[in-house]
Amino acid sequence: MAQIVLGMWTTHGPTLSTTPEEWLLRLPADHANKAHWYQTGRYDFDTLVEMRRDEGLAEKSSLAERTKRNAACRAAIDRMADAYAAAKPDVAVIFGNDQQELFNDALMPAFTVFNGDAIWNEPSSPEQAAKHPPGIHAAEWGHKPPAYTEYPGHPELANYLIGDLVANGFDITRASQLPRLDNHWHSGIGHAFGFVYRQIMRDQVVPHVPFITNTFFPPNQPTARRCFEMGRAVGRAIKAWKPDARVAIFGSGGMSHFVIDETFDHQIFAALAARDAEGLCAIGEDWLQSGSSELKNWIAAAGALFETELSGDIVDYQPCYRSEAGTGTANGFVYWN
Ligand SMILES: [Fe+2]
Repeated sequence: MAQIVLGMWTTHGPTLSTTPEEWLLRLPADHANKAHWYQTGRYDFDTLVEMRRDEGLAEKSSLAERTKRNAACRAAIDRMADAYAAAKPDVAVIFGNDQQELFNDALMPAFTVFNGDAIWNEPSSPEQAAKHPPGIHAAEWGHKPPAYTEYPGHPELANYLIGDLVANGFDITRASQLPRLDNHWHSGIGHAFGFVYRQIMRDQVVPHVPFITNTFFPPNQPTARRCFEMGRAVGRAIKAWKPDARVAIFGSGGMSHFVIDETFDHQIFAALAARDAEGLCAIGEDWLQSGSSELKNWIAAAGALFETELSGDIVDYQPCYRSEAGTGTANGFVYWN
């Protein structure tokens, strides 16, 4: 029978793959955004500065702090990658989101399972790169290969999981080929998956099943509870899967961004440590918008992992602020083995 031997929760954003100086390339966009999600409301930059004036965020976003936090993140990624290599899984399931990389307004499925043989990715063309917002293209090496690459899917496991999920009331979209959108800024699998391939798996990608969730884009994002329950169904199905495979589960995304909320992130860590399913399921939609929505990938992975014997600790947590408004990305890393 299959056995889940490793669980990993990781952030994956551009702060992990750019220099502390490059982080500031996002500042003009931070100022221009009049409706940053923060906790359960939406605020402009100046309002956030005023709301958070007692948090010492100017100091926390200084170059010295950014440099320290960036280095700590890189060390944490190394520890995650070492743990992945040591676990030697045969197969993986990766819960990630699509940030309009594969799907756009023509079609935006809530849950998609990829059941094809090969998952491809490729570097951006010059035309695509010219469409990237400032501070994003510099991070591309962190989630895209230097040349067109195909990574192994796992159609047998994917079809088994799809069948099981449908039987259990989850209507799953399936894709056997990745769509290639005309004149789009991106081609290939999204950064949530590419980061895991490049930086956690160090390009040693085992046959795997991508679970691609629309966490970001209203109005059809699955709720936290739905993500947890879907992940739990996946975990139960894997444990009943006949092949003698060692399986790794990944949740890729989060933590709070693009406005950082350390208290909220620590509530997520506490819920993981306590295997507090209801604590995760009860998180309201207002808390899980914009980049923070990607924590739904963590919640799906938690659903798969809470019913295993695995355990572990936080590898690191680094709130990577870039401004006194608290903009940036909070980076977190956890593994259970
Ligand atoms: Fe992301």
